Amino acid sequence: MKRVLSGIQPSGQLHLGNYAGAVRQFIALQEDHEMYLFLATYHAMTTSRDAKLLRENTRQAAIDYLAFGIDPEKAHIYLQTDVPQVHELAWLLACVCPPHMMDKATSYKDKIARGLPASIGLYTYPILQAADILSVDADLVPVGKDQIQHIEITRDLAEKFNHYYGEVFKLPEARVPEDAAVLPGIDGQKMSKSYGNTIDPFLPEKQLRKVVMKIKTDSTPVEAPKDPETCPVFQIYRAIAGRDDPGTNQLAGDYRAGGMGYGDAKQRLFELLLTHFGPARERREELTRDAAVVDRVLKQGAAAAQARIEEVLIRARKACGLR
Ligand code: ADP
Ligand code: TRP
Repeated sequence: MKRVLSGIQPSGQLHLGNYAGAVRQFIALQEDHEMYLFLATYHAMTTSRDAKLLRENTRQAAIDYLAFGIDPEKAHIYLQTDVPQVHELAWLLACVCPPHMMDKATSYKDKIARGLPASIGLYTYPILQAADILSVDADLVPVGKDQIQHIEITRDLAEKFNHYYGEVFKLPEARVPEDAAVLPGIDGQKMSKSYGNTIDPFLPEKQLRKVVMKIKTDSTPVEAPKDPETCPVFQIYRAIAGRDDPGTNQLAGDYRAGGMGYGDAKQRLFELLLTHFGPARERREELTRDAAVVDRVLKQGAAAAQARIEEVLIRARKACGLR
């Protein structure tokens, strides 16, 4: 059975972009893969400066995983914090990593350009991510399109290490969703927790509607035909409902025909979200009431991940002369 690993940073509530790019793939893959899904708490430190908030976001993100439908019977769910061994692996990889490999990573530059504080942690972020992936001998890494470069870096680092020390690490492959578009946020840029432009499908109904109504649209008048392809409202609708969904086709047709205002399109998106995430929203309410379930899941997941990483660590230490 192929082994899958992926993670999401608990730097804020999980959002539709995380769902479309990552979580939806996790749910599909868990049926016939050995799954390791974690919350990248150490990575979240690259942008968080608030202990209370990080603690709370981590808890909420763990609840989100379960509410979305990741099944702890089928996937090991854990916190990165509970496998600190990844830092040892990250060090081994850092020692074979030429600086130019980090210099060319676009996510660092993007984040700095967005005003996030520069730090060595943020700069070497891809090395820790490589350690996460290599730590369980993952075959597949389901991620959104923006993460492909990080998986390439992971492969490069694994190859470098293997070049010096023999076949220690397995080379993983990225798996991006079929409809690999990056989901836009309410401002039309990439939806991201760090950019404050997200839609959280678990918001109370009223707030959810309010956020959807805030999605940025242009000033084309109601009567005029509109291009669905360039409108974030349509892009989000299509990502959630699917390309072949009748509602998606209807909406695209109504954009092109003219006579439909953006308010109408937003109302349809809002209704879609309520229907699509109805069961998940109910599950989330139950989980919020039962804290013990989440703790138990994370503990079991950490034990499984630790057992796996210990094996890899012993192999890596031996290979490079530490043992
Ligand atoms: P964020 O950018 O909100 O901090 P993360 O970087 O933690 O989110 O991303 C977690 C996963 O969700 C990754 O696999 C990433 O590719 C995916 N993802 C995040 N935002 C989007 C988006 N806007 N569109 C598609 N996938 C996304
Ligand atoms: N960098 C990833 C993101 O921002 C999160 C992450 C950390 C991750 N470690 C990982 C994703 C390992 C996949 C595999 O989305």
